Amino acid sequence: MNGSAPPPAALPGENWQLQAQLPHLEATAELAHGLAGLLKPGDLMVLTGGLGAGKTTFTRELAQALGVRGQVSSPTFTLSRIHPSDNPAAPHLVHVDAYRTDAAGVESLDLLATLPSAITVVEWGRGLVEQALLGGSGSWLDLELHQPTLPPDRAGSGTPANGEVGGVVPVIQTDFSETEDELQGTPRRAILRGYGARWKTAPALPNGISEHL
Ligand SMILES: Nc1ncnc2c1ncn2[C@@H]1O[C@H](COP(=O)(O)OP(=O)(O)OP(=O)(O)O)[C@@H](O)[C@H]1O
Ligand SMILES: [Mg+2]
Repeated sequence: MNGSAPPPAALPGENWQLQAQLPHLEATAELAHGLAGLLKPGDLMVLTGGLGAGKTTFTRELAQALGVRGQVSSPTFTLSRIHPSDNPAAPHLVHVDAYRTDAAGVESLDLLATLPSAITVVEWGRGLVEQALLGGSGSWLDLELHQPTLPPDRAGSGTPANGEVGGVVPVIQTDFSETEDELQGTPRRAILRGYGARWKTAPALPNGISEHL
């Protein structure tokens, strides 16, 4: 288990690095859909980023773009889930969350068995899976997601100390409607890195994703 330790630093040897702003959920979805068009059976994507950075959300969009079955979720007990494709010509998606495990745990998942015929996505996999799955000369994509810290007024510190707002004493209300942020999402920053012969050159990011290097 990784606990609350920050994700490990990027592995050396990348061929390229693309940085992009993802201002809202739609942009994260666009990135996932764009990358889905490039991925082939045997490909490995390692997802890195803090809790809630958007790794599972990205994977959910990738699954949708690939047209695989089943609900992509944050597994509590299941470390790995295979999402089969209805299309016999299309690859399965293998989604792994390595947050609660270590190298021995990852080995026990036997990802090598499914790797050749699937697209394998591993959250919290950086430094754990690349060598173990691909050996010393493999190719993989590493996607790092960052959630910028919210400014103080968005982080809940804007309520007056006496509890009064404009002379009105607030009462507690339960509002089950989704907030704007929940519907549209909030900004993320993405760093995509390519390793190995398969990812020698950087792909073009989808239209609508602003790239900056
Ligand atoms: N631009 C965005 N991209 C991705 N997720 C976003 C964005 N804006 C808001 N979100 C929200 O942030 C949350 C991200 O949660 P998610 O489970 O994907 O994170 P995670 O990186 O997988 O976390 P964990 O390390 O706990 O598995 C979701 O509720 C999602 O709707
Ligand atoms: Mg997750």
